[in-house]
Amino acid sequence: MGEPHETLLEVRDLRTYFRGEEGVAKAVDGVSLTLRAGETLGLVGESGCGKSVTALSILGLVPNPPGYIAGGEIRFAGRDLTQVSANELRGLRGNDIAMIFQEPMTALNPVLTVGEQIAETVRLHRGLGRDAARARAIEMLALVNIPSPEERVDAYPHQLSGGMRQRVMIAMAMSCDPRLLIADDPTTALDVTVQAQILELIETLQTERGTGVLLITHDLGVVAEVADRVAVMYAGKIVEVAPVDELYERPAHPYTVGLFRSLPDLAQHGERLHAIEGSVPSAFRYPTGCRYRTRCPLASELCASSEPPLASVATASGAHTVACHHADRVGEL
Ligand SMILES: Nc1ncnc2c1ncn2[C@@H]1O[C@H](COP(=O)(O)OP(=O)(O)O)[C@@H](O)[C@H]1O
Ligand SMILES: [Mg+2]
Repeated sequence: MGEPHETLLEVRDLRTYFRGEEGVAKAVDGVSLTLRAGETLGLVGESGCGKSVTALSILGLVPNPPGYIAGGEIRFAGRDLTQVSANELRGLRGNDIAMIFQEPMTALNPVLTVGEQIAETVRLHRGLGRDAARARAIEMLALVNIPSPEERVDAYPHQLSGGMRQRVMIAMAMSCDPRLLIADDPTTALDVTVQAQILELIETLQTERGTGVLLITHDLGVVAEVADRVAVMYAGKIVEVAPVDELYERPAHPYTVGLFRSLPDLAQHGERLHAIEGSVPSAFRYPTGCRYRTRCPLASELCASSEPPLASVATASGAHTVACHHADRVGEL
C-alpha cells in the first residue's frame, strides 16, 4: 500500500490489434490511461468500443493469435507488462491484479464449492495451508456480506443466486489483497437493487483497502455511483477524460453528451430519451479523421480530414481532456 496519490497503472499509447480475414481490427488504438492507488477510474463506452480488450491487454490475456499488442506500454509496479514473461504475468494476476467478469458462472468452477475456489486462490498465491485457506475463504465471504458464510463456504456455485455468485467472484478477487482490481461490466447481469449493493461493496472494499479500481461499463449511470474519474472510449480511442462531477456538469465531447441522453434515469427527470443514431464503426474500417464524425451532429469538413488530439479543457480541476474539434460548441447540443 503506497502513497494515496501514487500512480498504480499507467497505460501509454496502447495498441491491441486482431488479425482477421478483412485485415486488421484495431480494437484498442492508442489508449492512454492513468490510475492512482485508491482511485476508481470508470471506463465507459458502447459495446464494441474496445473496453474489454483494454482490460485483457492489462491482464496479459489477449488471445494470441489472432490478437497481439501492436504498440505502447502498460506500466504497473515499475514494470512494463507488455514486456514481462507469461510466467511473471501469471504471478501478478490474482495476486497484485485481480479481475471481476460480467458473468460469474463462466469464471467459477461448477464442480468445486465456492470455499474450495477461494481457498485454492489463496493457497496458490499466498502459500496458506489447508485450514488457514478455509478460514480465509470464510473471512472473505463475510467481507462481501454473504449471510452465514460458515455454511455458504460449502455451497456450489449453482446453489447461489446471481448476486451471491457475483459476491463470491469479488471475494475471490479481493482474497489476495490486490493493488489493482479490474471489474468488466460487473453488474449488467444483475437486477437494479443487487447492482447497487455490488457497486457499494466494490466502493467500500476500495476505500478500506486503497485498491485502485478500473471499472468498465457501458452504463454511465453506474460510473456516476462509484467512479472518481471517467474515461470515455469510442472506436478504440479515449475521447474524453474528466473527474466524474465535471463530466456530468459539462461534458465536452458530443459522444459523451449522446451517452448521457440515452440514460433512462435522466429521461425520467424530464429530458427525452434518445439512443445515439447509427452504430460503433467496425474496428476493421474506422472513418478518417474523427471516428465519431459519422454520428456527430457537429461534424464538419475538418473532422473528416484531421483526427482531433486529446487536449485540455479549461476547468477548475485542470484534469479534463477531450478529443473534439468542436468541443466549444457542445453546449449547442
Ligand atoms: N477475440 C477477438 N478476435 C477478433 N476481434 C476481436 C476479438 N475480441 C475483440 N475483438 C474486436 O475488438 C473490438 C472491441 O471489442 P471489446 O473490447 O470486447 O468491446 P467492448 O468491451 O467495449 O464491448 C470488437 O468490435 C472486435 O472487433
Ligand atoms: Mg466488453
